[in-house]
Amino acid sequence: MAKKAIIFDLDGVIVDTAKYHYIAWRKIANDLGFDFSEKENEALKGVSRVQSLEYLLEKGDIDLSQTEKDKLLVSKNEQYLSLISDMDESEMLPGIQELLFALHKAKISFALGSASKNARRILEALHLTDLFSAIVDGTNVSKAKPDPEVFVIAARKICYVPKNCIVIEDSKAGIEAANSGNMISVGIGSEEVLGTADYVLKDTSELTMKFLKSLM
Ligand code: BG6
Ligand code: MG
Repeated sequence: MAKKAIIFDLDGVIVDTAKYHYIAWRKIANDLGFDFSEKENEALKGVSRVQSLEYLLEKGDIDLSQTEKDKLLVSKNEQYLSLISDMDESEMLPGIQELLFALHKAKISFALGSASKNARRILEALHLTDLFSAIVDGTNVSKAKPDPEVFVIAARKICYVPKNCIVIEDSKAGIEAANSGNMISVGIGSEEVLGTADYVLKDTSELTMKFLKSLM
């Protein structure tokens, strides 16, 4: 058993879905009469669907009933699902498919720790489900990132203590979650957004077996 295990976020780490979440939320915002930029969207990455809507409504200074909010949540997800309906392996981020197969072959445990309620559907579409030792997603947690719950459950499921878990994340909320869960945090993206991570890599092509082994 390797000394350390890895917990992967899904959207923006394994697969290039972050852009589709943005497109779908932007449409909701535009329909409500305001816009929000890609930079502002950084705050929504890693955040649950419900909290993302709350954030947007606050930004647009819009007050809605629960029924209206529920309709928007359904509409956002329908739009998102239609954007990813043809998803296949070609949408995986650079080097990730090879990395997951290499980790699996080397018997290094890895789990999924995602806020998304669509995570299992996406892993199925990418034919990755069976590689993961455990899958924890938005349907398994009561507290969203930046709370560490999703990663703590994942660590427990694969029988590793938090300090021996390496979390790979593209969101500020996810890095905060990993740090407050006492895990090793690796940010994928810009130093400006993910500066509190233990390590920051520009993109997934830098997330190599060699790099991960150097942390083990
Ligand atoms: C996270 C994404 O992985 O999942 C967020 O970074 C998204 O953008 C969240 O809002 C919830 O996803 P879903 O698929 O349950 O709406
Ligand atoms: Mg993400």
